Amino acid sequence: MSKRIALVTGGTGGIGSAICQELAKQGYQVVAGYNNGGKHEKAQAWQAEMREKGLDIGIAYGDVTKYDSCERCIKEIEEVYGASVSILVNNAGITRDGQFKKMSWEQWNEVLRANLDSMFNMTRLVINPMIEQGWGRVVNISSINAQKGQFGQTNYSAAKAGIHGFTKALAQEVARKGVTVNTVSPGYVLTPMVEKIAPEILEKIQGDIPVGRLGTPEEIGFAVAYLCNDMAGYVTGSNIAINGGQHMF
Ligand code: CAA
Repeated sequence: MSKRIALVTGGTGGIGSAICQELAKQGYQVVAGYNNGGKHEKAQAWQAEMREKGLDIGIAYGDVTKYDSCERCIKEIEEVYGASVSILVNNAGITRDGQFKKMSWEQWNEVLRANLDSMFNMTRLVINPMIEQGWGRVVNISSINAQKGQFGQTNYSAAKAGIHGFTKALAQEVARKGVTVNTVSPGYVLTPMVEKIAPEILEKIQGDIPVGRLGTPEEIGFAVAYLCNDMAGYVTGSNIAINGGQHMF
């Protein structure tokens, strides 16, 4: 059997890169979706870096906020590999933090489009081929702050909370077709996104994490790979919280 194709959106970024590497090591044909503001060279450099590590990972441009761009991305993958996407990891996301009383419509809109519309845009394009194949995996990356809420993140918390509803509704629709849909909710993981937080605020956040440290991208990648495995076929509509005990429920 040819390798299953796994598309990881935001695949060249912090957590996405770790997810791509774990899936590639486990034998999937991985494609890292990227936007990078259209900076293709950045993604190409990342791909070369992966090759040096012995990992053959494809890259495909796609703006997850735009359905037609996602359509072109999926079409390109199907043409290159001659097969449809069996595993979709909806990982691409952004932050535009700020207190709600000062938040602009742009800050709200950009976060909702990138973190929530993306669920529709990419998943809608791969779900029917998965149903037809009788096998598929959709893993949506949410956040601790979906359920906990976070000062300065009304936009992000709202979008990430929306992912839970999306996961649970879609999981029911495709459960009998061999397709699982799950959420992974990382806490504070050492990535460029978290590095943007002011050091004194991050220090305070870290002090509230029972495990006493930030998470690593690899810890997230490993959980995603578990959900993609055949042995996780009975796990659907679920959420795996990976947050060092910062939010228990
Ligand atoms: N609870 C209550 N009050 C708080 C607070 C909190 N957690 N944090 C700050 N404040 C208060 C301060 O005490 C201060 O009060 P006073 O004005 O009365 O002194 C006030 O808020 C400061 O507000 P400002 O708007 O002036 O602060 P700012 O504009 O400099 O910063 C912010 C606002 C950017 C939202 C900043 O608080 C911040 O970065 N917070 C962290 C947000 C965060 O955790 N983002 C996560 C990014 S990573 C990610 O999202 C990945 C993931 O999934 C986890």
